[in-house]
Amino acid sequence: MKTRDKLNPLGIWFVGARGSIATMTTVCAHLIAESIIEPVGMLTERHPYTTLPFCALNALRFGGCDIRSEPLTRTLDTFIADQILPSHLYTYAAAAVSETEAAIDFVPDLVGCIRTEELYNVSGEVLLDGLRSALAKFKASIGGNPVIVVNLASTEPIIPGEQQLASFESWEQLDTFIRQSNARLPWGFLYACAALLEDCSYINFTPNIGAEIPGLEDLALRRQLPHVGKDGKTGETLLKTALAPIFEARALRVRSWVGYNILGNSDGQSLTNPAARDAKTRSKDQQIRNILRDSPDVCTKVGIDFVSSLGDWKTAWDFVHFEGILGTKMSLQLLWQGADTILAAPLVLDLIRLVEFAWRRGETGALRHLGAFFKSPIGCTNHDFWFQMRELQEHLGIEERIGE
Ligand SMILES: NC(=O)c1ccc[n+]([C@@H]2O[C@H](COP(=O)([O-])OP(=O)(O)OC[C@H]3O[C@@H](n4cnc5c(N)ncnc54)[C@H](O)[C@@H]3O)[C@@H](O)[C@H]2O)c1
Repeated sequence: MKTRDKLNPLGIWFVGARGSIATMTTVCAHLIAESIIEPVGMLTERHPYTTLPFCALNALRFGGCDIRSEPLTRTLDTFIADQILPSHLYTYAAAAVSETEAAIDFVPDLVGCIRTEELYNVSGEVLLDGLRSALAKFKASIGGNPVIVVNLASTEPIIPGEQQLASFESWEQLDTFIRQSNARLPWGFLYACAALLEDCSYINFTPNIGAEIPGLEDLALRRQLPHVGKDGKTGETLLKTALAPIFEARALRVRSWVGYNILGNSDGQSLTNPAARDAKTRSKDQQIRNILRDSPDVCTKVGIDFVSSLGDWKTAWDFVHFEGILGTKMSLQLLWQGADTILAAPLVLDLIRLVEFAWRRGETGALRHLGAFFKSPIGCTNHDFWFQMRELQEHLGIEERIGE
């Protein structure tokens, strides 16, 4: 196992760099580093995690790419409108994002297109080369130091034939396919390829396809790079995977677990596309059956709808119908009201630190100990949140006694 030194600065290249989570993560990193706000929601800022030599937040240099070109201050304006950024912090937040503005590439520019729509006529090979050049340029701008690519782009519709990508066992086979294929390739796949080919660790916070397929795991192992994903576990699914173990622990039989989510931010808007919504609900609908082994016939349903007036605020209602002895039926109802971006940004900062730490320790391939952060954790077959947290602590060699 090849260990590495801590290097400063550390580059963070956001895919979807003009979106809500990328912008909020940049703002929070700066405001925490300057002690303007407290690091609420960050594990790596709390004992015993603080005993580990994680990178400093002021070592992070942000950049990335987006298919939109509106200034980052436009995203800050939506935070003010949604009441997730207090207005007295606006000036600090604007100063934080101003440094990043020049380091964000407009994706059509990378392949000589004028407009975003034209990207759909460009081959996967050309797109991949454009993304690699942008990443190489960013890496050079921070003196060749390490870069972590964090995918925070909108949820993509599942493309017909996408499953074929998972059938290639080695990187060579995948590479040949990319060069010969005329079919449209999923963006998430191309971003994961570009990251690993440019020797960057990869974090996939989206439900989109990423480095979980065998050909890219092969590439990550050969390049000695870690990767992790997918689909950040921030709200309703976090709650479900923390609560479902109670029913299992008490040997109660759960008959149905139904969840319905409404949200109004631009991520929610992207889910108005039925194929994108399908990708998201699939990612949210697998955990309960995995955890509830005493309830093999449990019926699960997940719904998501876009309600624009809610802005960044998501409301989730969960109905759990369960059965005790004599078949007596009971129910539990939950209402969750969370600000999605506020829940996600500290998690992204934790993931950056944990992945950089793993990279320094020479860990490669899918990081299975980070399953607690994801709805569809790569290589982690147990969705129980408490099991996943114990795995994280065991892996890091720390012990946290929650509740003592
Ligand atoms: N907020 C949460 O709690 C949460 C939890 C889990 C997963 N996620 C996922 O995180 C992602 C980002 O969420 P968000 O709220 O910041 O969304 P957002 O809509 O605010 O931002 C997404 C950004 O990605 C850009 N984009 C779209 N396609 C792109 C492409 N091909 N290349 C580069 N940029 C592209 C968009 O222009 C936009 O700026 C989504 O996929 C969402 O499903 C969010």
